[in-house]
Amino acid sequence: MTAEPLRLIRPARDALPAYVDALRRGWSADNIRGAVAAEEELAAIAADAEAFLTNLYDPEGAGPPYKAHDGTLVPRLPGLRLWLWDGEFCGSIGFRWPREGGERPEHGHIGYAVVPWKRRLGYATRALALVLPMARERGLASVELTTEAANLPSQQVITANGGRVVERFFKPDAHGGAESLRWRIEL
Ligand SMILES: CC(C)(COP(=O)(O)OP(=O)(O)OC[C@H]1O[C@@H](n2cnc3c(N)ncnc32)[C@H](O)[C@@H]1OP(=O)(O)O)[C@@H](O)C(=O)NCCC(=O)NCCS
Repeated sequence: MTAEPLRLIRPARDALPAYVDALRRGWSADNIRGAVAAEEELAAIAADAEAFLTNLYDPEGAGPPYKAHDGTLVPRLPGLRLWLWDGEFCGSIGFRWPREGGERPEHGHIGYAVVPWKRRLGYATRALALVLPMARERGLASVELTTEAANLPSQQVITANGGRVVERFFKPDAHGGAESLRWRIEL
């Protein structure tokens, strides 16, 4: 089947079976909690698919507390999750932003993951390019992203979108302790 041009879609019922299929194949939008997060999402979809979809698209930050990578619950930032779609499910990109006067998101404003069978097609690069105007429309002057220092594909995605490194740091031990980079893209 010939793929359609990549677009970002709002998570919805008609695309949900394709998302569930990706989770069942072991993929997860959560790059750190991985398979555990995938199992949690499958359970949440089985329990109440509509609530699951509503929580993914939450520009008011009205949803329940967010489960951080160490499993602790933290207040949810306003944000939204969009799915990468080329006629099939390709991955997920998340964009969150601070509340009025609030702190910048600790792990960056934007995060993404492409399913393994749709990688190396330029999709993450294109998805990030499509989200940047949304950030500009929300009045942000710049966005930050974080990558592990070893994650060269992700860094390539950011540099292709005009990003530069602003900080080098080590993740807390609870998050694996990896050397990491904070990137900024001026809007
Ligand atoms: C990182 C990730 C999102 C890239 O997605 P993608 O759609 O394959 O990325 P793109 O096709 O836009 O490729 C971006 C660039 O990285 C390069 N690249 C992609 N995968 C690569 C790999 N495995 N090894 C080396 N380079 C790679 C591509 O060649 C491309 O560079 P180019 O401009 O020279 O062609 C994807 O590999 C992924 O989901 N990884 C796991 C989750 C993750 O790491 N998310 C980011 C956390 S910060």
